[in-house]
Amino acid sequence: MGSRDYLPRAGRYSDWQLYRRLLSYAAPYWLFFLLSFAGYALYSAGVVLLADLMQLLLDALGPEGGAQGAGATGILSTLAYTVYEVPPGGQLEFVRVAVPLALLLLTVLRASGFFAGAYFISLVARNLIHDLRCQLFDKMLRAPGLYFDRHSHGVLVSRVTFNVEQVTGAVTKALKTILRESLVVVALVGYMLYLNWRLCLLFLVVAPFITLVVTLVGRLFRRYSRRIQASMGEVTQVTGESVGAWREVRMFGGRQRQAQRFATASDYNRRQSLKLAFAEALGTPVIQGLLALALALLLWFALSPAVLADFSAGSLVAFLVAAVQLGKPLRQLSGVQSVLQRGLAAAEDIFAQLDQPDEADAGELEVDRVAGNITVRGLSFTYPGAQQPVLHDISVDIAAGETVALVGPSGAGKSTLTRLLARFYPAPAGSLLLDGVPLEDYRLDCLRRQIALVSQDAPLFRDTVWNNIAYGGLGDCTREQVRAAAESACALEFIDALPQGFDTVLGEGGGGLSGGQRQRIAIARAILKDAPLLILDEATSALDNASEHRLQQALASVMRGRTTLVIAHRLSTVEQADRILVLDQGRLVAAGSHAQLLAQGGLYAQLYQREFSA
Ligand SMILES: Nc1ncnc2c1ncn2[C@@H]1O[C@H](COP(=O)(O)OP(=O)(O)OP(=O)(O)O)[C@@H](O)[C@H]1O
Ligand SMILES: [Mg+2]
Repeated sequence: MGSRDYLPRAGRYSDWQLYRRLLSYAAPYWLFFLLSFAGYALYSAGVVLLADLMQLLLDALGPEGGAQGAGATGILSTLAYTVYEVPPGGQLEFVRVAVPLALLLLTVLRASGFFAGAYFISLVARNLIHDLRCQLFDKMLRAPGLYFDRHSHGVLVSRVTFNVEQVTGAVTKALKTILRESLVVVALVGYMLYLNWRLCLLFLVVAPFITLVVTLVGRLFRRYSRRIQASMGEVTQVTGESVGAWREVRMFGGRQRQAQRFATASDYNRRQSLKLAFAEALGTPVIQGLLALALALLLWFALSPAVLADFSAGSLVAFLVAAVQLGKPLRQLSGVQSVLQRGLAAAEDIFAQLDQPDEADAGELEVDRVAGNITVRGLSFTYPGAQQPVLHDISVDIAAGETVALVGPSGAGKSTLTRLLARFYPAPAGSLLLDGVPLEDYRLDCLRRQIALVSQDAPLFRDTVWNNIAYGGLGDCTREQVRAAAESACALEFIDALPQGFDTVLGEGGGGLSGGQRQRIAIARAILKDAPLLILDEATSALDNASEHRLQQALASVMRGRTTLVIAHRLSTVEQADRILVLDQGRLVAAGSHAQLLAQGGLYAQLYQREFSA
C-alpha cells in the first residue's frame, strides 16, 4: 500500500513531548482552562458530597441518632451539627428538612460545575484545533516543491481532514473526560482517605494493576491508530483519483482496479479498527474486574468487627458508596484512552509535518522590477533522489526583452529549466542569474513576482472565470485590465459567450471549458500579471493552428519589452522567436534562429522536417 511507507516512525516524539506540545496550543486560552477546571472541581465536590449525604441521613435514622454516634465523621454532618444545635430528639425533623435541601443544593452545584467545566473546555479545545489546523494548512502552502513530489496527495489531504479530526476527538472528548473524571477520582479517593485511610489504602492496592492495564492497552491503541491513519490517506488518495479521472476509469475498464485498491485500503482500515476495538472492549471489563476484586476485599475487611467498632453505619455506607462510585470515572477514563491515543498518533504525524523545513527563502534582495537578463553558467540539475541528472552543464545568456524558444524531445528537461527559474527545487549546480544576481539572493516572493508562468498543465480553480484570471495577488486589478488581458489571450470571445460571462463558475480543474479555452484563461492570468519574465510552457498546445496563429499575433505586443521563454513541440509556434535553444537529453545541443538551425541540419532540422513532411 503506497501510503504505508509514509507511516510516521513510532516513537519520534515521546508522549510527554506530545502532551506538552499540544498543551502549548492551549496556553493562550489558560483563563478558560482555569474556569473549566474550577467548574469540574465544583462538579467533583458535588459528587463526593452527595455520597457524604448518605452518612448524615443514615446515622440520623440509626438508634443513636446523629452526629453523636461513634465514627460518624461525614463532612456534611460535621458541618451541619456545628452550625445547628439540634435539640434532643429533634434529629429526624432536622434531617427531614436538611437532607432534601442539601440534595437540591448539591445537585445545582454539581450541575453548574458540569456546565462550566464542559463549556469552557470545549472553548479551549475548539480554539486549539482551529489554530492547529490553520497552522498545518499554512505549512502546506509554504512547503518545498519536493514535498508535493514525494507524498501522495491523498495523504496530504487526509492529514488536514482526518488527522486533525482525530486530534479534535482527543482534545475535546478526551480532555474533557480526563479533566472531569480524574478530578472526581481524586475527590472520591480523598474523601475515602478522610473517612478511613486504612481501608482506603487497602482498596488502592489494585491501583498499580489498573495503571498497568491502561498503559498496555494505550500502547496498542497508538499502534493501531497509526495504521488506521495511514489507511485513511490511501482511501482519500484512491477516492480523489477516481473522482478526478472518472472518464479514464470508465473508458479503460479501471472500475475493478480502483474498486480493488479502495477495498484493500478500506479492508486494512477495517482490520486495524477491529483490533483497536478488541483492545478497547477488553480493557474496560478487565478494569471492572480488578475493581470488583478490590471492592470484595474491601467489604470483607470493612465488615470485620474491629473496623465496624469505630465506623458508624452511615460512614460505612458513605465509604462504600464512594468506592462504588469510583467505578464510573475509572471506566470512563479507560474508555477514553482509545480516543486519546488516536489523537496522539495523529498529533505525532501533524507535528512531524510542522517540523519540516519550509521552502528555502534565505534571499534578502527585494527589487521592484527586474530588467529580465537571464544568465545560465554550467547549470546541472538532478532531481533529489533521482540517479540521473536531468540537465547537464547548460550555459546560455538571454537578454532582457528577448523571446527565446526552448524545443526538444519530450523529457529533454525543458519544463525542469522553468521550474528552476521559479525556484521550485533546491538550487542546481552551476549558476543561474537574473539581472546578474544569483536567484537565491532574491526574496522568494520578489522573485516570483517577476515571473508569469503558464505551466504545462496550468490548472484552474473552482471559481468564477473572473477570479481565475484575477487570481491571488491580481485581485485588485481593474475591470479594464482584466478584459484587456482576456482579449490579448484571445479569451474574451468565448468568455462573453459563457452563460454568465466572467461570473461563470468553472468546475474543478476548469471543467466546462475546452482544453484550448482553459489554456487561454491561464494565459490571460499570466498576461494580467504583467511580469518582466513570461514563461509559456506548452501554453497553446491545445489550440488549432489557426487559433494559435491568431493568439501569437495578439501576444506579440505582450511579449514586447519582456523576456519571454516559449516552450513548444509544434515548431511553427516558435519560428518567430528571436532565438531557439534546442535541448536533448538535458544538454543544450544547438542555438540560433530558425533559419540558422535549419541550415545547420541538426536535431532541429530533423524535428522540423518530420513535422512538415506529413
Ligand atoms: N518531479 C520530478 N522528480 C523526478 N524526476 C522528474 C520530475 N519531473 C520531471 N522529472 C524527470 O526529468 C526529466 C525532464 O522532465 P521535464 O518535465 O523537464 O521534460 P520536458 O522537456 O518538459 O518534457 P515534455 O516536452 O514532455 O514536457 C524527465 O526524464 C522526467 O522523468
Ligand atoms: Mg515539459
